[in-house]
Amino acid sequence: MESKRWCFQGNQDLQKASAITIGGVLAMLRGNLNKDDPRPLIPLGHGDPSCFPSFRTAAAAVDAIVTALQSHEYNSYAPIVGVLPARRAIADHLNRELPYKLSPDDVYLTVGCRQAIEISLAALNRPGANILLPRPGFPTYEAYAASKNLEVRHFDLLPDKDWEVDLDGIEALADENTVAMVIINPGNPCGNVFSYHHLKKVADTARKLGILVIADEVYDHLTFGSTPFVPMGVFGSIVPVLTLGAISKRWLVPGWRLGWIVTTDPNGILNQTGVVKSITSILNISQYPATFIQGAVPRIIENTKEDFFTKIIGMLREAADICCNTIDEIPCISCPKKPEGGMFVVVKLNLTMMEGINDDVDFCMKLANEENVLVLPGAAVGMKNYVRITFACELSSLEDGLTRIKAFCKRHIKINQ
Ligand SMILES: *Cc1c(COP(=O)(O)O)cnc(C)c1O
Ligand SMILES: *[C@@H]1O[C@H](CO)[C@@H](O)[C@H](O)[C@H]1NC(C)=O
Ligand SMILES: *[C@@H]1O[C@H](CO)[C@@H](O)[C@H](O)[C@H]1NC(C)=O
Ligand SMILES: *[C@@H]1O[C@H](CO)[C@@H](O)[C@H](O)[C@H]1NC(C)=O
Repeated sequence: MESKRWCFQGNQDLQKASAITIGGVLAMLRGNLNKDDPRPLIPLGHGDPSCFPSFRTAAAAVDAIVTALQSHEYNSYAPIVGVLPARRAIADHLNRELPYKLSPDDVYLTVGCRQAIEISLAALNRPGANILLPRPGFPTYEAYAASKNLEVRHFDLLPDKDWEVDLDGIEALADENTVAMVIINPGNPCGNVFSYHHLKKVADTARKLGILVIADEVYDHLTFGSTPFVPMGVFGSIVPVLTLGAISKRWLVPGWRLGWIVTTDPNGILNQTGVVKSITSILNISQYPATFIQGAVPRIIENTKEDFFTKIIGMLREAADICCNTIDEIPCISCPKKPEGGMFVVVKLNLTMMEGINDDVDFCMKLANEENVLVLPGAAVGMKNYVRITFACELSSLEDGLTRIKAFCKRHIKINQ
């Protein structure tokens, strides 16, 4: 029988969007490992340290899940915005640092921070709209924007100004179709922490342009330098803010998939402009985190002892120090700014000093192959000829990995420069 031409095909836009994920790039590097290398693989490309024994979550968090399950109170479907005790616990948690009071109604629970990103972008999208994203940044934003045909414009984070936002660049990029700008603080990939003063300027700029700020604070309070963490919501009366967060990074449980969107907006502008309604409309047709995880949130937040955070932050500080001190000893690569928060450092490659390395992707491919070490090419986060190194891993592995990076750079240095 003569077959009719099929009327369907895969969605090409989605293929374009998912081409730029960190997972995809790391999978490509893994494909280039040398299987005969007897040394253990050192993974410094990931963003999930929970597999390392030193980065185990708090006992209180595990107990909270067990308690939620044993109560049999969380076996049902949940309200689409999330269960009230969890929303209240998150509001109270954020209220400790805000000059006004959030209510539980300002909090929407999501499947990790990733879904918070997806919902925020979808809620703001309209034909012709554009959004301003940081470069370097976190490619999930680009991927979701592409899947929604939301135009992306990039502003720079300035390496010689502690990775601060190029505010003049923002004003030049924005037009009447710009809906929002995204900041990630503490930063991924740069490990920077924005000062109060800089965040105030970000708020003033956004207000002037009439755009809202999406503040990705998934690394909130994971800071270990001289700049304290300040939530963007502090400036919520200057400019409306959508605060995105999760327990994933701070409690080291990304697999539990519990995040949130919070309308940190005391003037109710997000309500007036219909953004709140869009968020609930999307939630009405979306998935939400498992009810027992939601039920555990109040105990996770209340019962986790300060020692747990102090220990994790101490390990991150030590790891960041080791990382930057070792990089300083390596010719060909340099660290523009020592990280003050988060889990990553961005390192600059000096390719003119190196023999046989074309660019950052080539550097990472050859490093994987010759040294069994994975680091993320800057191209994956919008920063060509840089690499992102994760220092959140077992210290012995980190040291081993850095020693191998040093050997690799020495081997590839140009003899006659
Ligand atoms: C890890 C990460 C996320 C995603 O968080 P999940 O809770 O794991 O979905 C979002 N934004 C940034 C900047 C991240 O590093
Ligand atoms: C949100 O806006 C609606 C109408 O625009 C108004 O009726 C309602 O009171 C507002 N809610 C809050 C919490 O401000
Ligand atoms: C979401 O669904 C509920 C019913 O489950 C409905 O009452 C509400 O109006 C819906 N909200 C939006 C914004 O569509
Ligand atoms: C690379 O190193 C060379 C030699 O040390 C130096 O002259 C040059 O400025 C460096 N380039 C960059 C981009 O850092």
